[in-house]
Amino acid sequence: MSTPYLTRRSQLETYFDRTAVEAWSRLTSDAPVSKIRATVRAGRETMRATLLGWLPEDLTGLRLLDAGCGTGALAVEAARRGAEVTAIDVSPTLIGLARERLPAIPGTGSIEFRVGDMLDPWLGRFDHVVAMDSLIHYQAPDIVRALAELSLRTDGSLLFTVAPRTALLTLMHAAGKLFPKADRAPAIVPVTEGGLRRRIAREPALERFAVGRTRRVNSAFYLSNAIELRKSPPPADGGGQSR
Ligand SMILES: C[S@@+](CC[C@H](N)C(=O)[O-])C[C@H]1O[C@@H](n2cnc3c(N)ncnc32)[C@H](O)[C@@H]1O
Repeated sequence: MSTPYLTRRSQLETYFDRTAVEAWSRLTSDAPVSKIRATVRAGRETMRATLLGWLPEDLTGLRLLDAGCGTGALAVEAARRGAEVTAIDVSPTLIGLARERLPAIPGTGSIEFRVGDMLDPWLGRFDHVVAMDSLIHYQAPDIVRALAELSLRTDGSLLFTVAPRTALLTLMHAAGKLFPKADRAPAIVPVTEGGLRRRIAREPALERFAVGRTRRVNSAFYLSNAIELRKSPPPADGGGQSR
């Protein structure tokens, strides 16, 4: 893990565990929120439905990693469809909230909530990994390194989101720098889809993964791009050397 990754992860832990915990708890509940936040909530619901819609309808017996799960809404939906979910977040407070909110899961699905880094190799192997808005604060090289790391343990698809680079986001990003450092959320790092695709293509660990579906979700104050990376089956001859 690079120094910028570790620095950013620590800032995010402070932000999501302390600075923004009230706001985040409210945003991810049914409690009334401002008009601006309501657009963010609506956008996030569309994004969650998009990512869940890219997974097989029946997730029975499949292992899923919710990487940076926050208060766990996506994990709950996946478990309801039968997945064995590991949901991890670097914020102990958000994991506490997720555990408090956990409804009864009917059928065979399950969720294990954990505090820690989504890249921890001890989490084991997964059929699918979903990182909804949890990589948007990292620099492009760190996003691709994180995907490469996760790909080593993923047998099916890697679904994630990035913040698209738009004029408005660049402006908001610049305006954000006018606020005193202590009040600032860790900046969202806008990336271009073309640049990201080129980095993915250059990353050896992602050789067997190809970009599949993409979708931009734009709901006033929420703007995020969903991207699917799909693993191709191994070559018919197993790719091994004959003796
Ligand atoms: C914008 S929130 C999204 C939460 C959740 N995926 C959702 O959509 O509701 C980003 C989350 O990613 C978590 N996060 C960021 N970097 C992480 C890392 N390296 N490992 C685990 N969690 C991380 C943060 O603590 C935060 O809860």
